[in-house]
Amino acid sequence: MREVNVGPASQFADPGRRVIAFERLEIAVFKLDREFFAYLNLCPHMGGPACQGKMIAKVEETITEDRASRGMQFSKTKMHVVCPWHGYEFDVRTGVHPGNPRARLRKLAVRVSGDDVIVGLPESAERDKPQLDPTSSRPTH
Ligand code: FES
Repeated sequence: MREVNVGPASQFADPGRRVIAFERLEIAVFKLDREFFAYLNLCPHMGGPACQGKMIAKVEETITEDRASRGMQFSKTKMHVVCPWHGYEFDVRTGVHPGNPRARLRKLAVRVSGDDVIVGLPESAERDKPQLDPTSSRPTH
């Protein structure tokens, strides 16, 4: 597997991200709670630049035992990135769409060596694989 150095870990905002063009790929690297996560910047819905969208805490609804809503609030632990084309959201830590786990960003290996953030690049054949299981229904949002 080829790897690319995307820069010093200490220069990433937390939470934050960078989108880097490398050869024919766009790679997104997120930093969240001192951990790094990397994906291809390619939405499984229609190929939009999913990783360039807003980063926003997951919106959660509290439901009481009698199934009444106690209202919505932002998660204190989960962060999403929202694709700017049609609004699909993906968990920054897993790359998975919260409403359809088959819809997910293509995850890349990432590690920190010294202060360098190193991302593993997919093999060329792997780059072109569909990211959404073709037997699944389209995710809804
Ligand atoms: S291309 Fe990302 S939501 Fe449609």
